Amino acid sequence: MSQNTSKVALVTGGTRGIGFETVRQLAQAGVHTLLAGRDRSRAVEAALKLQGDGLPVEAIALDVTDTASIAAAVQEVDRKFGRLDILVNNAGIIVEDKTLAPSRQSVAAWRETFQTNVFAVVETTQAFLPLLRKSPAGRIVNVSSILGSLTLHTQPGSPIYDFKSIPAYNASKSAINSYSVHLAYELRDTPIKVNAVHPGYVKTDMNAGEGEIDVPTGARTSVQMALIDADGPSGGFVYLGETLPW
Ligand SMILES: NC(=O)c1ccc[n+]([C@@H]2O[C@H](COP(=O)([O-])OP(=O)(O)OC[C@H]3O[C@@H](n4cnc5c(N)ncnc54)[C@H](OP(=O)(O)O)[C@@H]3O)[C@@H](O)[C@H]2O)c1
Repeated sequence: MSQNTSKVALVTGGTRGIGFETVRQLAQAGVHTLLAGRDRSRAVEAALKLQGDGLPVEAIALDVTDTASIAAAVQEVDRKFGRLDILVNNAGIIVEDKTLAPSRQSVAAWRETFQTNVFAVVETTQAFLPLLRKSPAGRIVNVSSILGSLTLHTQPGSPIYDFKSIPAYNASKSAINSYSVHLAYELRDTPIKVNAVHPGYVKTDMNAGEGEIDVPTGARTSVQMALIDADGPSGGFVYLGETLPW
């Protein structure tokens, strides 16, 4: 606990699901954690629940698809802390009509998906990078999905081989994996580590509770990769300590 108490983390999409639980677990580890939500009042409401348990959690407004909102959040973190130690890019959406074949998903759905799951991650990361560079040990966790694995998608019999109903979502996670690899390479000679994680198939609103594992277990990989030390990996794609195929 003691080595984490001086750290500051920010988790996007912290109002519910895996993000909310990631905030809880980071704060339980002693990290001062900023619970970011696109709606300030809902972020405050969520943060209050954790503060009520005595956890070091603070709400911050951040719509990851809004450039002005990102800039305001960066300014707020800079003014209050002057650096950021951990950025968890957790916010994500699925907007596709799962009853349609991959070839029939609308371009609008593809755009909306990439806006939140890819471009917003790139923009948020770029904006916070100067503050992460000021940390002695910056960590970036990109919440991906096993559904972004092209290796498993092309392997008959793999657990995701038949999960082809949300192509834009799946491709957005492949793109985030690729982005993580490029960023980790760029930052290889700095203390900053960048990793993509799969949370597991988690019971959240995203799958109407149909997931297979509980939310606390679903947040564990993000928290593990947020707290890796200097010997930890960078440029990896992991789930509960296991490396996943790209
Ligand atoms: N659940 C799974 O089985 C599973 C599996 C693999 C990967 N993942 C990934 O894990 C992450 C979290 O998923 P989840 O299951 O916890 O989903 P969720 O319960 O649907 O929560 C999504 C979160 O993202 C936030 N969000 C969406 N758009 C946003 C925006 N423009 N700006 C800021 N926040 C935004 C939501 O905020 P609001 O409350 O304001 O809507 C919410 O807090 C996602 O990246 C998802 O792709 C989930």
